[in-house]
Amino acid sequence: MKTKLLLSLSLAAFIGFAVPVMASEGVELPKQEWSFNGPTGTFDRASMQRGFQVYKQVCSACHSLNRIAYRNLAALGYNEAEIKAVAAEASIMDGPNDEGEMYERPGRPSDYFKAPFANEQAARYANNGALPPDLSLIVRARANGSDYIYALLTGYGEAPADIKINEGMHYNKYFAGHQIAMPAPLAAGAVTYEDGTDASVEQMAKDVTTFLTWASEPAMEVRKKTGLKAMIFLFVFAGLMYATKRRVWKDVH
Ligand code: HEC
Repeated sequence: MKTKLLLSLSLAAFIGFAVPVMASEGVELPKQEWSFNGPTGTFDRASMQRGFQVYKQVCSACHSLNRIAYRNLAALGYNEAEIKAVAAEASIMDGPNDEGEMYERPGRPSDYFKAPFANEQAARYANNGALPPDLSLIVRARANGSDYIYALLTGYGEAPADIKINEGMHYNKYFAGHQIAMPAPLAAGAVTYEDGTDASVEQMAKDVTTFLTWASEPAMEVRKKTGLKAMIFLFVFAGLMYATKRRVWKDVH
């Protein structure tokens, strides 16, 4: 009986304490200032547009963004003509036509972003066996997603002497295990921003993270606005209810 109790106690202790220890084994993530932080935060449109440019010109060579359609780019502040032009750059496989053949056509705003590889095998084959994950929900799929993506993109460097990096792998301070199959994707000046912003690694990392945070939750601004309205309503409603209660019960002593 006693051993059973001891066993379950130690199991509880293990589950209770193992989690924080495992979390602190990794390097601590530096916190960034994001425009979308907090209950009233919004997305910085200019940063999202720059981030889309970084995704398009750099990341989309390896990473798909399956859940975003070209028409969704309206949220970044692009107009219809601009979205049509972006979509038309992609060549989309469609069909079958009346003869049963598949055919390629220019993209339309209703098409979803074209993936760089036809299937998982092709993606792995081109990346040393590793699979570049779809980036649509990556910010939500990682703890402190925005801070993590920013840290990952800026976390490359020389490996410390006690860490051996396998062939085809790269040292990254913030990746679990510190070995990642993705080569450092950003180098200063990798893109030329149309608005003249200096394309430093940190700037591009910040912009593409903002863009990916939006992609992970395009309705964030609506959610926050609705939440705030609901809170204000509940506050006023509580006041009215209290006044009503006092009135109804005022003769009862
Ligand atoms: C040359 C191909 C290539 C390019 C370009 C590239 N990636 Fe990757 N990426 C990969 C591969 C491969 C992996 C999987 C790494 C692994 O599992 O070791 C990966 C993984 C990731 C991950 C997941 C990390 C995790 O915690 O699992 C993120 C986030 C990411 N990439 C973001 C980006 C962003 C943002 C860009 C553009 C700035 C980019 N990548 C450009 C190949 C690439």
